[in-house]
Amino acid sequence: MEEMKRMVAKEALKYIDDDMIIGLGTGSTTAYFIQMLGKKLMTGELEDVYGIPTSHQSRLLALESGVPVVSLDEVDAIDLAIDGADEVDPHLNLIKGRGAALTMEKIIEYRAGTFIVLVDESKLVEYLGQKMPVPIEVIPAAWRAIKEELEVFNATAELRMGVKKDGPVITDNGNFILDAKFEKIEDPLDMEIELNNIPGVVENGIFADIADIVLVGTKDGVKRME
Ligand code: 5RP
Repeated sequence: MEEMKRMVAKEALKYIDDDMIIGLGTGSTTAYFIQMLGKKLMTGELEDVYGIPTSHQSRLLALESGVPVVSLDEVDAIDLAIDGADEVDPHLNLIKGRGAALTMEKIIEYRAGTFIVLVDESKLVEYLGQKMPVPIEVIPAAWRAIKEELEVFNATAELRMGVKKDGPVITDNGNFILDAKFEKIEDPLDMEIELNNIPGVVENGIFADIADIVLVGTKDGVKRME
């Protein structure tokens, strides 16, 4: 699995040129990409590339790896964004947010000229919701009300707890995450909009119609979906 992640991260480097502004996703696959990008910048193989991190985690990793960072309000455009995903359907709709960074990820990836997704083949599904719940970032005071409101969509939601289970996960924006398990998401774009219409929902982890290219790590090499 780690080898597949490394393979797609290396493949993604082929899309990077000098003078680019790149959205840096969050998660273990993107971490390989950020580290490899840092090496290319340090050896001078690439120049004047800046990253816009989607989380504190990817910001720290970028700085440690030698990738200079800028924020969204300092740039006119984002050339490219690179990120992982938790599920990818045949139409390149995604579920993201296991790393709780979905809001900033969507803000940046929506605005990128090209959004490239890096996954291993275990993330490919026939329909969204097949394996993973949809992470939903919510205003803390509203978590319980939203959990109940999600029953309208036949979804069962759980408040995401920290690894020690002694409190909820707090996002970079100071909010909670509900993980909502759906039976089947028939229309990802419609569901993405519906969920964001619930007052107290900040953003949800359905990324419908945003990805341009998906690089899939398989036992036989990297496959490209677009
Ligand atoms: C973080 C994300 C990640 O990109 C997604 O969870 C995939 O992570 P990994 O590459 O570690 O499997 O959406 O919010």
